[in-house]
Amino acid sequence: MAKVKTSFFCQNCGSQYSKWQGQCTSCKEWNTIVEEVIQKEDKTSWKSSSSSIQTVSKSQLISDISSQSEIRINTCNKELNRVLGGGLVPGSITLLGGEPGIGKSTLMLQIVLQIGTTTLYVSGEESAQQIKMRAERIQSDSKSCFILTETKTQNIFKQIEEIQPRIVVIDSIQTLHSDYIDSSPGSISQIRECATELIKFAKETHTPVILIGHITKDGNIAGPKILEHMVDTVLQFEGDRNHVYRILRSQKNRFGSTNEIGIYEMLGKGLKEVANPSEILISKNEEGLSGTAISATIEGMRPLMIEIQALVSTAVYGTPQRSTTGFHVKRLNMLLAVLEKRAGFKLGAKDVFLNVTGGITVDDPAIDLAVVAAVLSSNVDIAIDKSLCFSAEIGLAGEVRPVTRIDQRIKEAEKLGYSSIIISKHCKVSNKDHKIGIIKVTKVHDVVRHLFG
Ligand code: TYD
Ligand code: MG
Repeated sequence: MAKVKTSFFCQNCGSQYSKWQGQCTSCKEWNTIVEEVIQKEDKTSWKSSSSSIQTVSKSQLISDISSQSEIRINTCNKELNRVLGGGLVPGSITLLGGEPGIGKSTLMLQIVLQIGTTTLYVSGEESAQQIKMRAERIQSDSKSCFILTETKTQNIFKQIEEIQPRIVVIDSIQTLHSDYIDSSPGSISQIRECATELIKFAKETHTPVILIGHITKDGNIAGPKILEHMVDTVLQFEGDRNHVYRILRSQKNRFGSTNEIGIYEMLGKGLKEVANPSEILISKNEEGLSGTAISATIEGMRPLMIEIQALVSTAVYGTPQRSTTGFHVKRLNMLLAVLEKRAGFKLGAKDVFLNVTGGITVDDPAIDLAVVAAVLSSNVDIAIDKSLCFSAEIGLAGEVRPVTRIDQRIKEAEKLGYSSIIISKHCKVSNKDHKIGIIKVTKVHDVVRHLFG
């Protein structure tokens, strides 16, 4: 019998070492190096179980290679198609990551049920009955979707050869294991081996494979970072589990832009695509409430109108609280400091709570002005005119700074019926036909004067 071979792997970054050490030299993490049994063989299960498809690669002139860019598989889901850059590319490997319970399995099951061609959904986490119950819940049935509850890649490939699916979904890559590696499922070497086998299968048969991946506490895809390097596309499904909205983002895409996002709503019967996100993210309060402001932001490539709510109250305890959802608390602290220093508002002894409605996290700096407006409005308890919205960044000197793609933002605000938008004076508005009133300001002071006289 061959000697058992072991090696040491960092569970954080996947680096391989010949002996144990306390700190990983490549990612600098402590106590992440674990011994794993490896048994390298020259063959992988996909090759060995389907000898007929073995090919030897030959070099060819780039001008002779036929382009297949137009052949995309329509997933019958507009938001997913948009994020993928027009549909699934044959032979591509897509990794879908997201927190537990966010809806990864639901989304993928919906896709395989809708698509209408032969699909295979491999689950290592749920039983066939559980998947059937989920399918009943999302009220979708299909005559061409096969379910397989299996975790051994060799058996999965046997089934694949039998039913010849056009799309394969693996739920999840962390549950798979290959016979050629002795370590347990979810370990670095298993994940790497199983992914390699699946990639080989996808490239040789031009079948797109979607892998569902778990993520760690810090939001990274669990297991090795190398998994992200190996696949063609990395999608992240995110949102607040207590809210209904979910955002699908692409972090890496070899076949399209990473700027696109897809928006879904989690309902009792599955995920619903949201075509006009701006309309749902704004509450329909008739009477004006103090402390709310609307911001014209851009998420990915899409303009999005978002409502900001602030509550400013006198601090009861010694240290005032600052708490935010969907916005960086450090950025809020900076904006409060700017208001104190540049606009004379004494907020140092006040509690400030900030909320981006809909459970969405916003990174776009254009939200700054709306945050400031909401905080000031709550502070003086005067509501902001409901037909007004904001789009600008605030600098440390209290200056109102321009933001990118202002025309797109103005157009979205106009489409949703706002009558005026406050932007920076330095913004270059190229389209002169906007019907909406454009108010240009240079300093935070000007905004205060405009809002509260
Ligand atoms: P799931 O797809 O199992 O999450 P993941 O695979 O990312 O771990 O999603 C489970 C959650 O979604 C669960 O908390 C219940 C909710 N859900 C709905 O609200 N409506 C539905 O129709 C379904 C199927 C699930
Ligand atoms: Mg799941």
